[in-house]
Amino acid sequence: MSRIIPIIPDSSSSLTMSESSVAYRDGPQLGADGKPLPLDFTHHLSEVTKRRQASLIKKYYRFFQIPGIKNLAGGLPNTKFFPFETLEAQSAKPERWQPTPNHPGDKDSNKKDPAAAEPAHITVPTVSGEANPMKKVDVATALQYGQANGYPPLLDWVCKFTRDHLHPDAPYSGGPDVILTCGSTDGFAKTLEMFVNPWIDGLNDPRERPGLLCETFVYGNILSQAEPKGVQIVPVKADAKGMLATGPGGLEDVLKNWDVTKGRRPHLMYTVTLGHNPTGFVIPISRRKEIYAICSRYDVIIVEDEPYWYLQFPSATAANLAKTGTVKQQTQSAEPEVTKRTVSTGYSFLDSLTPSYISIDVDGRVVRLDTFSKTIAPGCRLGWITAQPALIDRLTRIAETSTQQPSGFVQSLVAELVMGPQPEASLSSSSSPSSSTTSTPSSTSSWSLFRSSSSTTPAAQPKPSKETPSSPGEGWQMTGWIRWLEGLRGMYERRMNRMCTILDTGSSLISSNTRLRATNSTSGTPGDWDVITTTPLYTYSWPEGGMFIWLRMHFDTHPLWEHPLFFARNGEREKTKVIDGPTLSLALMLFLTLKPHLVLVSGGNMFSATPEISKEIGWQYFRLCFAAVSEEDVDAGAQRFVDGVRAFWKITDARVIEKLVEKLGDDLDASGGEALNLMKVMGQAGAAEGMNNLGGWLGC
Ligand SMILES: Cc1ncc(COP(=O)(O)O)c(C=O)c1O
Repeated sequence: MSRIIPIIPDSSSSLTMSESSVAYRDGPQLGADGKPLPLDFTHHLSEVTKRRQASLIKKYYRFFQIPGIKNLAGGLPNTKFFPFETLEAQSAKPERWQPTPNHPGDKDSNKKDPAAAEPAHITVPTVSGEANPMKKVDVATALQYGQANGYPPLLDWVCKFTRDHLHPDAPYSGGPDVILTCGSTDGFAKTLEMFVNPWIDGLNDPRERPGLLCETFVYGNILSQAEPKGVQIVPVKADAKGMLATGPGGLEDVLKNWDVTKGRRPHLMYTVTLGHNPTGFVIPISRRKEIYAICSRYDVIIVEDEPYWYLQFPSATAANLAKTGTVKQQTQSAEPEVTKRTVSTGYSFLDSLTPSYISIDVDGRVVRLDTFSKTIAPGCRLGWITAQPALIDRLTRIAETSTQQPSGFVQSLVAELVMGPQPEASLSSSSSPSSSTTSTPSSTSSWSLFRSSSSTTPAAQPKPSKETPSSPGEGWQMTGWIRWLEGLRGMYERRMNRMCTILDTGSSLISSNTRLRATNSTSGTPGDWDVITTTPLYTYSWPEGGMFIWLRMHFDTHPLWEHPLFFARNGEREKTKVIDGPTLSLALMLFLTLKPHLVLVSGGNMFSATPEISKEIGWQYFRLCFAAVSEEDVDAGAQRFVDGVRAFWKITDARVIEKLVEKLGDDLDASGGEALNLMKVMGQAGAAEGMNNLGGWLGC
């Protein structure tokens, strides 16, 4: 069952439930449901977060319930004066895209049903007569001030999806709660605010410096958010299965051997575990358990950012095993390793996916970030955070004084899309007054009461628009939403398959030299023979999830590797250094943007957790995004990349490389400045006509 915490537990208390009734374990205590109570993480909260008080206005909420009260207290504009009467959209049917199989070996049917391609129509009415605030979606409530944890019907729906279908096996008592956000970027900003005391070099004690554990390669926006707060980025080594739990550079090694003079031992970890950006791994449950145990031992909060969780590709697991030759011996292991869930999600698609850290979060130490950016659209700026209720309560206080809530336009349209259709009877009519002032379901939020007892009283309600269709709309409901996700996975998985198949064909240069030799009649040795030389250009694994292919380029096999490099300066050719990896990497990126190749990729230094990683290994990697390009351009883009790389490896005249690097300016010392410089050049190149952008330069 989904749960919205009632903010008014009884008429004598104005405390939130989490404030009034949170119980933590400090031993083996169990909750009423027989599960262990979550741990108390107050000691990890930032000083600002500890000082935040719940909004004062909440104390008034109970008065809003008094029957017949004239509410002159709230500072709300009158809904009658909103210029929007309805919000309507042509939308997709959930069956628009064809799923791929949940298990390798099953037949992939990409059959198109013409009816599924037809648009549907959704309408957010002016005023809904629906009595239950968890179902009431209308312009009058959506565009009014709202509660900081989200628009009640959408919050309730997300809560239900999260608790019943995404994480039905959450192990701590009561299970997690949610708060809606303006997307995961906002979710992470709030999480940092909750757990991090800003630290300033020269002003604060170096031993107090906060730290953030993350994978060696990381989604760059996280660094941009954390570093200005003085957070020390602490990279942990990762392999094809994700962050390493043990061994040199692994999580345990980093935490156990922490040098306290460098700062506080990190109490926060940022990780993407299901379709990692940029590397594409899915952390298997066995590795997850090891990492979780170490986080428990060292008291680390896990911030799990999962925009790509539903994009898990069984075909990649099978292809990677086939590539390494293990699939024949171990047919069974072509299945991705998924826990046997103790509780089914209710949907075979969701059951087939590797679950979140929340499924093993016995302490309540996981803060998970979700977003609608990759499932609906990034411009929605809508997402949610899932965590134990006491932490959600702290986040709500942060939201109360920052974003307040995501936009009501977006919340109501998304609610209508995923929850509709609304019952016919509940469509707006001034003769069907809202009964929410008299009936108070246990899950009713105080903000809904606040609204209904003030400016949305029936008398104040505007008449419904004449355009409001008599049809109640065509929303998806939970089953449709999950079918939509399954269809998206199908479309992205097929693209990934196509791009990887083409990349596989071009990953090495094969040259053969036929030598002539007489047959030796005594020994029987054959005469003519070929010497086949294979030059690896790049290696990679098919991504097991997400939107990206992560290639390791073998620049050391380039004919000009470590060849002297000259720059033209003041009309003179000046020798500056040899052609090293970073130089070749930049030159190739630029070369690819020129005609006839016209393809844009992202360089690995953009995702390097630290400048040292960028310098040591970041330049070796390219990230290709198979998501954003059009269907036709998946093949064209991959082929252009392959052809461009092969052409680059045929360059034997160092002056060609010189010309390329000169374009990037004089200062090429493989620093962060280099990446910036390159971004500028690439930005211009990306705008070139006919450019196939596999780089995903905007947003991610
Ligand atoms: C790992 C990761 N987290 C977060 C985001 C941004 O999410 P949102 O649009 O919800 O802010 C992205 C976008 O690419 C991403 O790759």
